[in-house]
Amino acid sequence: MAILLDGRAIGARIREKVKERVARMAIKPGLAVLLVGDDPASHLYVSLKRKACEEANIRFELFLYPANEPEAVILAKVDELNRREDITGILVQLPLPSQDANRMIAHIHPNKDVDGFHKENVRALSEGRPGIVSALALGILKLIDEGRGALGRGTQKNRAAIVGSSLFAEPIRYLLAEQNVFAERVDPDDAELATKTNVSDILIVGVGRPGLITGICVKPGAIVIDVGTTKIDEQVIGDVDALSVEPIAGAMSPVPGGVGPMTVAMLLLNILKAAELQKTS
Ligand code: GUN
Repeated sequence: MAILLDGRAIGARIREKVKERVARMAIKPGLAVLLVGDDPASHLYVSLKRKACEEANIRFELFLYPANEPEAVILAKVDELNRREDITGILVQLPLPSQDANRMIAHIHPNKDVDGFHKENVRALSEGRPGIVSALALGILKLIDEGRGALGRGTQKNRAAIVGSSLFAEPIRYLLAEQNVFAERVDPDDAELATKTNVSDILIVGVGRPGLITGICVKPGAIVIDVGTTKIDEQVIGDVDALSVEPIAGAMSPVPGGVGPMTVAMLLLNILKAAELQKTS
């Protein structure tokens, strides 16, 4: 049976270290979150980010907008937050109901973009320059690292498949390449999905389609990271069919309790990194 990669436990350890680092900082970092509309999942994720920040003594400010708020109003707030010295990180919760997410993200100063979504930060990553790296991608990489450790460092794990959009796959691909892991993106609608994924030592899936990945898609002993989140009857469900995958995979991350808490923990690390960048810029 696969080893379960416990994102809650790993995330809690990281958050504890962040708290210790914040305690030593003369000027405390501050996160501003812009939340548009009333999507319950987005409100839930933001409340988890708030709790994590407050526990680590990172100041947290929330700006709420109705779903139909004109884009210009939100962009003006981003401008104001860019200028504020006490706000070291800015995050626009996605998805946005009607506003253009790319325009919003482009407006955030790259040194305050704690999600690592700004094109300057994505370009820096692709060119191997320093910048803020996607918290989601960092969380996934940390789980893979844990999986490698649990399965034994000696095991060769240098071929990966990433099932999802290219926007999702690219930052993960760059980070894996730095570790000499060759990653191929596989389209979720690819007719050959199973034969493309079941040769991979590492399988990462972030689509939002429960049951997409079954046992036949998985190479025996592989590390499987489930990034899917679909809400069905108050329950969050991943893309991986745990029942058929667990007996085949070497290690796998659960949903909930896998990538989600890791992303929050990595966001806190990014807030510290952003504060450092602003001190030196
Ligand atoms: N919505 C779901 N995940 C994320 C995330 O990591 N960042 C933002 N800003 N929105 C999200």
